[in-house]
Amino acid sequence: MKRFGVSLEDNLLVKLDNLVSKRSFPNRSQAIRFLIRRHLTVEQWEKNREVSGCLVLVYDHHRSGLQKRLTSIQHDYHHLVLCSQHVHLDHNNCMETITLKGTAIELRELADRLIAVKGIIHGELVMSVLQ
Ligand code: NI
Repeated sequence: MKRFGVSLEDNLLVKLDNLVSKRSFPNRSQAIRFLIRRHLTVEQWEKNREVSGCLVLVYDHHRSGLQKRLTSIQHDYHHLVLCSQHVHLDHNNCMETITLKGTAIELRELADRLIAVKGIIHGELVMSVLQ
């Protein structure tokens, strides 16, 4: 066990002490251990967990090349794509809903690439953990 000093702003220290009492930690060190472990767990979880996901994209279909680009990117990640659905929202706007399965890091990468395509008005990825 190693000891080290931690500097905290007053208001953050109050929050830490509240956490200590709320969770009945014996001391601040135990609370900090808990927070570090939880952070690391969440980080691992986010990267490696098998998840299912749904990506929603809204875009103007008049934009040239956009649809072709979306399809091409999805083909690069075909192992993640379970299905996709296209809805014509109105005269200009389309909504594409892409159902995905894979590790969270892969889904995030694919979603980021699709959302970054020029002309995408809105993009949002929702993920849920598979039990
Ligand atoms: Ni459409």
